[in-house]
Amino acid sequence: MPVKAYDLTGRTAFVTGAASGIGRACAVLLAEAGATVHGADLDARGLHETATLIKDRGGTARTHHLDVTDRTEVRQAVESCERLDVMAAVAGIMHSSPVLETRDEDLDRVLAVNFKGVLYACQEAARLMLARDSGGSIVTMASGAVDTGGPGLLCYGVAKAAVVQLTKTLATEVGRYGIRVNAVAPGWIRTPMTDRHDAGAQAHTEALMARMSPLGRVGEPEDIAHAVLHLASDASAFTTGQILRPNGGVAMPW
Ligand SMILES: NC(=O)c1ccc[n+]([C@@H]2O[C@H](COP(=O)([O-])OP(=O)(O)OC[C@H]3O[C@@H](n4cnc5c(N)ncnc54)[C@H](O)[C@@H]3O)[C@@H](O)[C@H]2O)c1
Repeated sequence: MPVKAYDLTGRTAFVTGAASGIGRACAVLLAEAGATVHGADLDARGLHETATLIKDRGGTARTHHLDVTDRTEVRQAVESCERLDVMAAVAGIMHSSPVLETRDEDLDRVLAVNFKGVLYACQEAARLMLARDSGGSIVTMASGAVDTGGPGLLCYGVAKAAVVQLTKTLATEVGRYGIRVNAVAPGWIRTPMTDRHDAGAQAHTEALMARMSPLGRVGEPEDIAHAVLHLASDASAFTTGQILRPNGGVAMPW
């Protein structure tokens, strides 16, 4: 680890959504930076693969097969950590439907996973950090969708906007105890969530997204993991209540 401020040796990080995409990349990078990583996800097989990736690289990983919409499961998993320095609340789902076709159950499900799931992770992490008077860093996963509207993105955008508000509010409440809370709002990242399951459609969408970026490319999960590592580590010791936008220079392409 060449830069000490990014060294997480001796620290413990909890990552939700660790079985896939951005959450997996975060779990692997935080472990590479020295943290013991607790990964949580609904997908037991994906979680196991992430833990294997970490262990193969010499890191330490624990897994928690859970649903982030279940507060009790989240509490028990978080409380099982001997210490907690970092919470990365990454788990989320995509949903797309026009406003006029959006059903109550769509909104309820997206809010349950993308907002309440993040809220529970934040609450349980902050409680543990406060109880142990240890300080810490909480990183939430928002989206470029918070910066503008987009067709079909009502439920998703509302939930992510709520995540931003949670982040800013919690940051004001726990800052004096040495706990920082920041959000990451990624642009288009190549993960199973953005997989169009058709090579032609995928290439077309990615080309469209890449053209919107001054960098001329879409993002990779590792691009977001590095943003999360920055916010998780002492390198961002004077940063709280902020939204970091790793989006290739474009907020949203609409
Ligand atoms: N991929 C993108 O372009 C993009 C852009 C902006 C924001 N994001 C956000 O980044 C986060 C990760 O997305 P991704 O692209 O890596 O998607 P992904 O589908 O690859 O990973 C999401 C993970 O969350 C898990 N998950 C879903 N519901 C869960 C639940 N109820 N309990 C526990 N785990 C659950 C899934 O099993 C999966 O492992 C999400 O919050 C997403 O909204 C993604």
